[in-house]
Amino acid sequence: MSGDRGTGEIEATLIAGDGIGPEIMAATVDILAALGAPFRWDHQQGGMAGVAAGGDPLPQATLDSIKRTGLALKGPLTTPVGGGFRSVNVRLREAFSLYANVRPVRTMVEGRYRDIDIVLIRENIEGLYVAFEHYIPIDDDPHAVALSTGVNTKAGSRRIIRFAFDYALRNGRKKVTVVHKANVLKALTGIFLETAREVAEQYAGRVAMDDRIVDACAMQLVMNPHQFDVIVTTNLFGDILSDEMAGLVGGLGMAPGANIGEHAAIFEAVHGSAPDIAGKGLANPLAILLASALMLEHVGRGELAERLRAAMQGVLHADKIRTADLGGTASTQDFARAMIARVSAGASNAGA
Ligand code: NAI
Ligand code: MG
Repeated sequence: MSGDRGTGEIEATLIAGDGIGPEIMAATVDILAALGAPFRWDHQQGGMAGVAAGGDPLPQATLDSIKRTGLALKGPLTTPVGGGFRSVNVRLREAFSLYANVRPVRTMVEGRYRDIDIVLIRENIEGLYVAFEHYIPIDDDPHAVALSTGVNTKAGSRRIIRFAFDYALRNGRKKVTVVHKANVLKALTGIFLETAREVAEQYAGRVAMDDRIVDACAMQLVMNPHQFDVIVTTNLFGDILSDEMAGLVGGLGMAPGANIGEHAAIFEAVHGSAPDIAGKGLANPLAILLASALMLEHVGRGELAERLRAAMQGVLHADKIRTADLGGTASTQDFARAMIARVSAGASNAGA
């Protein structure tokens, strides 16, 4: 991918986030240091932590930092449901035009399915998440009617669909499945399918294309996930299907994501701040570690990403150290210690 291919230090913004964020991020920073990852962290705040510190869920200093570094590792950020401030995740994606959200799922532990290897590419800025929403009051009920307008553009659709086909080419993948609801939302998601058919022609003979209606796709992901290779879809469908896909490989603790734009990239887990387990040392740091591996690849340090993933396999299978979501008894810290032992050993053996 893009970025520095040398061995020099790379400045990156780090946002610990809310809920389980500080626990999994502290573990990740230690593991990456032991691995010899090149990142020099600029610590910044966001979410509820940003509100607590300075009254702002997305402080200007955080925006300035990402603008400068063009690279961030971000813990989950809590968003109030219903009222309250707008999702900081959505604002960050908009602020840096991070139009592509890449969410790979791959089997690492035995579960309901074997050998899952699917990459979902989600349009990250348009669709229903522009959230042009309002209420219409009737009589004395201020919330009598709710309205929302989605926006998909041909340019935005073309950009993400090209990204998906180029991703397939670069990564030796054979097929892109376009997921839509063009039978009902004929304009909003019809434009996406129509654009996909045009773009696919430019890749004919190199990458195949097919398409699915989103509800049928959700069922087929459970019945026969192996038919899927790369999936490209609009914002809301991508959000929903990527959590479903995490369920194919052991849950949200296993699913990383990369938000990619022309001038910046933000790496994160698919999961949220998990308030139900926050502060208890129960969180699985694998998802954010897998996101760190994507970040290493992004800056041209694929060999470190490989070593990091190999250490994860070693800890899960040889050391048999797993957090509770994977049926184990290890704490976040236990898992981190085992990872540090493996990546440190790997570092001293490198080249031997
Ligand atoms: P969630 O993803 O935080 O949690 C869903 C379930 O998965 C919970 O039972 C949780 O304990 C479990 N889980 C999640 N990550 C885990 C991990 N690493 N290890 C073990 N178990 C894990 O989703 P929820 O509860 O709907 O959202 C909580 C908050 O997070 C909300 O404020 C939401 O807006 C925010 N959120 C933020 C995201 C981000 O920062 N990118 C993404 C999704 C949600
Ligand atoms: Mg989500």
